[in-house]
Amino acid sequence: MAKIIDGKAISKAIKDEVKQQVEEWKQQGITVTLAVIQVGSNQASTVYVNNKKKACEYTGIRSLSYELPEETTQEELLSLVRELNDREDVNGILVQLPLPAHMDEDEVIRTISPKKDVDGFHPQSVGALCIGQPGFVSCTPAGIIELLKRSGVEIAGRECVVIGRSNIVGKPMAILLLRENGTVTVAHSKTADLKAVAKRADILVVAVGKAKMITSEYVKPGAAVIDVGMDRDENNRLCGDVDFEDVEKVAGSITPVPGGVGPMTIAMLMHNCLESVKLQGK
Ligand code: GUN
Repeated sequence: MAKIIDGKAISKAIKDEVKQQVEEWKQQGITVTLAVIQVGSNQASTVYVNNKKKACEYTGIRSLSYELPEETTQEELLSLVRELNDREDVNGILVQLPLPAHMDEDEVIRTISPKKDVDGFHPQSVGALCIGQPGFVSCTPAGIIELLKRSGVEIAGRECVVIGRSNIVGKPMAILLLRENGTVTVAHSKTADLKAVAKRADILVVAVGKAKMITSEYVKPGAAVIDVGMDRDENNRLCGDVDFEDVEKVAGSITPVPGGVGPMTIAMLMHNCLESVKLQGK
């Protein structure tokens, strides 16, 4: 049976490290501030945003909350982002996605100062990641690297397969695994013989958005399996992209859903808020 990688415990350890740094800085007169913007009232977004605010409270990071109505115009949102870019007392800016359909998400992301881009979505952050320069790293893939390292999973020299090529998870995940000296393959919906490709992996990261798609037939015995999925099963229960009951019989280690990758995303956001203070040279 696979070892369970406990994302809840590891994320708490990271939040506790952040909390300690925030306290130290407080004594030196430095406050860490994150501005969180939500436009409209998408239910899932409200849950995510509330969890982010709770994590701020836990770590001692000051959070400024902007809840804008659905009808907000692109220009109104951009001018708020520009105002927050200019504010000395704001370190990180997060615009919760998705935005309402009438808005241009890419333009909003490009308007956030790369020095305050704690989500790591700005093209400059992505470019810096690709060429190994300092900058913010997207929270979910950064959290997965922490999960692997803190569970003693060796990355260097090993076969890593990422299934999924999104800008937020798959692509930055591949670059980060490469940076850790893994041998990386990115597979996707058009990959021929996905089972055979996945089965090569010592580390298999799954971000496809299809409930329980990955069964033991895709998994090499002893592999570390990281499940980024947040899906609903036939009984409407939360589950991942990996068929946990089946895969845990062959994997060496595996993340559960919930309690695996999910909590790490927010822990790394808190970590990125510390990075924002450093990047701004405070
Ligand atoms: N929507 C879903 N996940 C995320 C995230 O990590 N950041 C932002 N800004 N929006 C999201």
